[in-house]
Amino acid sequence: MLFPQHIIARKRDGHALSRGEIGSFVHGATNGSWADYQLSALLMAIYIRGMTPTETALYTEAMMNSGVVADLSSVKRPKADKHSTGGVGDKISLHLAPMVAACGVAVPMISGRGLGHTGGTLDKLESIPGFRVNLSMAEYRAELEQIGVSLIGQTAELAPSDKKLYALRDVTATVECIPLICGSILAKKLAEGIDVLVLDVKFGRGAFMKDKTKARELAEALVSVAKAMGKPTRAVMTAMEQPLGRNVGNALEVIESIECLKGHGPADTMEVTYALGEQMLLLTKTAATQAEARSLLEQSVSSGAALTKFRELISAQGGDARVVDDVALLPQARLKVPLTAARAGFITDVDAMAVALAALRLGAGRAKAEDRVDHAVGFSALVKVGERVEAGAPLALIHANDEQALADAKAMLEEAVVIGDAPGVIVPLIDELIG
Ligand code: URA
Repeated sequence: MLFPQHIIARKRDGHALSRGEIGSFVHGATNGSWADYQLSALLMAIYIRGMTPTETALYTEAMMNSGVVADLSSVKRPKADKHSTGGVGDKISLHLAPMVAACGVAVPMISGRGLGHTGGTLDKLESIPGFRVNLSMAEYRAELEQIGVSLIGQTAELAPSDKKLYALRDVTATVECIPLICGSILAKKLAEGIDVLVLDVKFGRGAFMKDKTKARELAEALVSVAKAMGKPTRAVMTAMEQPLGRNVGNALEVIESIECLKGHGPADTMEVTYALGEQMLLLTKTAATQAEARSLLEQSVSSGAALTKFRELISAQGGDARVVDDVALLPQARLKVPLTAARAGFITDVDAMAVALAALRLGAGRAKAEDRVDHAVGFSALVKVGERVEAGAPLALIHANDEQALADAKAMLEEAVVIGDAPGVIVPLIDELIG
């Protein structure tokens, strides 16, 4: 019999835990046989003592097997997913999934909701009238068989240990721990039934992992654990200093993703989209070279196939696909007010974190898990670093449903956007490729 206190003591004293000990911990989180104080104590011991690569892989495997692992053997195409560690204005999943699916790769994507400063793919999708994200596993599989793409929410059957452990980490200062993050992210992704995985690991002010060295450490750990579990995986490290694209806010980001699918996406958003899509096509061997992968993805947009796939996806999940041709069908804010430039000059900074907090003030995100989001609010037509503006020119359009929130968000955005005399330094968006 493995007593929790003995396992906690072994980690406290710096020992590597065995498969059985890790299994007991994860099982204890899933079935309630460990008390919250024992789970929390071990989480803190892991935070302080760390885990070896072998322990991290065993932990990830136990987390994944704490629930259902989707069997997608009936889906005959290669299956690839992308996971982002989260950023501001990061709407890439919405258009990348249909682009890659239009290239013949199935994209089983299980996403999360926004919490804190980063948005969530599910909240963006739910701004489409009627769109259902809570599909059963059988519906998810059927959609993948029929159209090759499905974008759904986390179900109770999938990695249930993570739900318990993440909630405890959130309130015990143990979130920022690479082995625990690895287990949490990969258990959910590998339970989707994928063949390969591409990770967008962000660093910078607007990222979950702000420090680049720590972000690289996380990317390396994620890639090595996923590979150890038999899944070809690659991470693209990308900068998150200014928001991605020009729109921030749920429905506004859907509009920008539709623009991307119509071939008019912002350059930065498309740069990251192509970098991730290329790796999905390379890892599934759909393309032999990066140039071929790029060309396939570009063709999916220029031929209209990716846009058609997006329509199919919306319809299959109960949404109103007419939004693709008429974005006025998406929720609209009552107040639309521009923020204008106080002087002429160059945009030297747009602080992603400050923009995210301003969007949160408008109601675009959640401060607590139980908060409701306002799908209509946020910012559109945001300026980018390096652009020239004249005095009085619009820096962004603010979409709000409340006068006081509008005034507060406007003041916050004014601080976030800096105008100087010379173009600022533009941080390269795509950094290293890991794996
Ligand atoms: N995202 C997750 O899903 N889990 C973590 O631990 C951190 C980020």
